[in-house]
Amino acid sequence: MTPSSASGSRIAGKLGLTDRIFAGPRSRRLLSTVETGLERVDANLASELRVTDSVADSASRYLYEAGGKRVRPMLTLLTAQLGEGANDDVIAGATALEMTHLGSLYHDDVMDAADKRRGVPSAHAVWGNNVAILTGDLLFSRASQIMARLGDRAIRLQADTFERLVLGQMHETVGPQEGDDPVEFYLQVLADKTGSLIAAAAQLGVIFSNGPRELEDAMFQFGDKVGVAFQLLDDVIDLSDDPDETGKVPGTDLRAGVPTMPYLLLATRTDAASVALLTRIDAGVALIADGADPAILDADLSELREHEATQATLDLAHQWSSEAIAVLAPLPEGPVREALTRFAQAVVDRSS
Ligand code: IPE
Ligand code: IPE
Ligand code: MG
Ligand code: MG
Repeated sequence: MTPSSASGSRIAGKLGLTDRIFAGPRSRRLLSTVETGLERVDANLASELRVTDSVADSASRYLYEAGGKRVRPMLTLLTAQLGEGANDDVIAGATALEMTHLGSLYHDDVMDAADKRRGVPSAHAVWGNNVAILTGDLLFSRASQIMARLGDRAIRLQADTFERLVLGQMHETVGPQEGDDPVEFYLQVLADKTGSLIAAAAQLGVIFSNGPRELEDAMFQFGDKVGVAFQLLDDVIDLSDDPDETGKVPGTDLRAGVPTMPYLLLATRTDAASVALLTRIDAGVALIADGADPAILDADLSELREHEATQATLDLAHQWSSEAIAVLAPLPEGPVREALTRFAQAVVDRSS
């Protein structure tokens, strides 16, 4: 994928998201509006990632050029339809949030010791941790610069969102404290690390298109819940045995000792087979931490994939998606509400 051919809509379309979100004749006009907006966001991203010296530029363009579904800008463009549509501020804000997401991927892969991202070696595997971390920082500063041009409301949205994202990553890292319920704690982590940006994306569209003020909070809640559903699905995808489709190494999080929802639900099961599987996974994680080959967990992770705890994670993802859809109640009937409904359904019905 080269920057010139990297249209967000085409990338998302390839993965079937747009087809699902814009199904039906009433959505055709909306689809073309959103596609045009995604192209503007991508053109903006491409030019914002070409502003300094060649080393910094090529590191920051690296993961952008590798692809990505552009889920967040798509959501912003959709909620902007509740107002006057994709004006320049909406496009700039969507660009800044996608850039923030991009930066978070550089950092996340360092933290999760992930070897692959978007189908290519992760940035730290290419340049080492320092350059990967600094590139993420650079992307965050650029995103703030863009938001600052939009004024106080935008920079506050950016700062609040980023604070929550960082706290989500921090709480995931340190884990639940005494008295915390592990599953509840983890759901809060998901809302913070992933829901934060998706909620901001949904809210930004309605705010900067001068949409109805009374829908700003609903859009935030919608994005937050969709984000939890999205991340629960990501936990299931982490167990996928098809790295070509996901662009990631299967079981990356669990092998690195990052607990995901299937693992946490497994830990609540009391039957002998579940207890034994949990014990084997814990032992494998400890050995990997001591330098053993991560492949020692292959069989156990396959077993977890087929375990009822993984199905329960999928069910939970659908539950959060339904709750997101319920939040859309105050929206007027029409293609935008339909597309948002399908958006919430599509994020829990994806394989990458
Ligand atoms: C990956 O997000 C990180 C998570 C919050 C799960 P996406 O699945 O949206 O990543 P790209 O942008 O499509 O690569
Ligand atoms: C990513 O979470 C969340 C952020 C980047 C803030 P994960 O670590 O679960 O996502 P993937 O699986 O690496 O994309
Ligand atoms: Mg990760
Ligand atoms: Mg992570």
